[in-house]
Amino acid sequence: MSIKTKITCIGAGYVGGPTMAVIADKCEDVRVTVVDINQARIDAWNGDALPIFEPGLDEVVARARGRNLFFSTDIAGAIKDADIVFVSVNTPTKTFGHGAGKASDLQYWEKTARQILEVCDEGKIIVEKSTLPVRTAAAMERILNSNDKGLHFEVLSNPEFLAEGTAIRDLFAPDRVLIGSHQTESGLAACEKLVEVYAHWVPRENILTTNLWSSELTKLTANAFLAQRISSINSISALCERTGADVDEVAHVVGRDSRIGAKFLKASIGFGGSCFKKDILNLSYLCEYYGLPEVAAYWESVVKINEWQTHRMVSTMLERMFNTIAGKRIAVLGFAFKANTGDTRESPANLVVRDLLNERALPVVTDPKAIPDAKRDLADVLDRVVFEEDVYKACEGAHAVVVCTEWKCFAELDWKKIHAGMEKPAFVFDGRNILDAAALAKIGFEVACIGKGKAD
Ligand SMILES: NC(=O)c1ccc[n+]([C@@H]2O[C@H](COP(=O)([O-])OP(=O)(O)OC[C@H]3O[C@@H](n4cnc5c(N)ncnc54)[C@H](O)[C@@H]3O)[C@@H](O)[C@H]2O)c1
Repeated sequence: MSIKTKITCIGAGYVGGPTMAVIADKCEDVRVTVVDINQARIDAWNGDALPIFEPGLDEVVARARGRNLFFSTDIAGAIKDADIVFVSVNTPTKTFGHGAGKASDLQYWEKTARQILEVCDEGKIIVEKSTLPVRTAAAMERILNSNDKGLHFEVLSNPEFLAEGTAIRDLFAPDRVLIGSHQTESGLAACEKLVEVYAHWVPRENILTTNLWSSELTKLTANAFLAQRISSINSISALCERTGADVDEVAHVVGRDSRIGAKFLKASIGFGGSCFKKDILNLSYLCEYYGLPEVAAYWESVVKINEWQTHRMVSTMLERMFNTIAGKRIAVLGFAFKANTGDTRESPANLVVRDLLNERALPVVTDPKAIPDAKRDLADVLDRVVFEEDVYKACEGAHAVVVCTEWKCFAELDWKKIHAGMEKPAFVFDGRNILDAAALAKIGFEVACIGKGKAD
């Protein structure tokens, strides 16, 4: 099939890799090149072991790679050759200077804008795929259009709503695709060009178009709302533990109200991932910047409750385990921030392990996919943490097991065998409420779940 459109994506990470692989898979008349400054990452995308674990990703890449999907470190060449340039670089929280700890660090972003300008000898459509503060497109346009080559660049916002662990499913059948553009003739024409790409497989009524600023702000708002639901139910879980209510029952009935809905009401040790915390802090910073301190504080509280909820885990362990866990072996089941990914960024397990170390416990970390990243995240305390691929070995001789990630395989373990190998009394702390607590109690475990008080 002849190529109609050439797309280059800068940034071959958790978003750039899967989104571009799906575009190439679904659009045989589009040639997609994904570029990155990280040679090892590009080599992995070109090899057998892809750099990220995502169910279904291997098959998609296998179908398109070498046909109309390419991975390269020739950033300049790929930008020059493209009609549409997506920018999907990382936008972490700033760690220095003004806005440190809250604002978005836009240095990677700005570097790409300058590089695009440097290598282009014709105007192009530039698509913001990264999550950015509202009005970033204005800065991008100022950099790009302040050239003396007489070139015009049209900037679009096309935030990504995929969730890690279900990225391929989300990309194949998205609830919606959002494209923001200027409401000018050239803005709307650029928008239509991108709509045509997605329309290869997404029904037109699910491709929503807005002005640029609405699109940029929508992504931050969507993440803030999702995280807020988790913090809301987690705050109620603490009250359940004091009162004998069961948070899963409360959430189930609350979620049956069609005005509320059932999703994202699962109580747990807290949310993680690279996005929620950073995006909410960024939203909060923007509110401060625009003179709205009350709104900033409202959203920041979602992050504060989340951290409090995670710290509660080791407090509960202390309470149940006779106020001391010093010297006790504790098996930490799961280090990924959620199931079906190897990503450990902002994982609650990281905080739990550090809280355990503060109490001088001996954490043993196990995870089906995330041990390499866990070792990187815990590099400063490696001598005090044991890593164990085999979950049964991790539990051998432990005083307690704490479930930090909702991997299905943990619910399917032979818990009788685990109980037999543990110190007694053997404790299980289920930070994800995925285990059959009654069955574990029957085996002889002391079980503590999130948001489940003692019914009496
Ligand atoms: N991870 C998610 O689930 C998710 C979901 C939706 C949106 N987002 C947003 O998407 C963006 C990317 O997130 P990610 O998780 O893919 O990040 P990531 O860190 O996995 O990937 C970013 C990649 O960009 C590369 N990069 C940085 N500067 C570069 C440059 N100048 N030239 C070429 N490559 C460069 C890095 O080497 C890295 O491989 C972020 O803004 C994030 O907020 C992430």
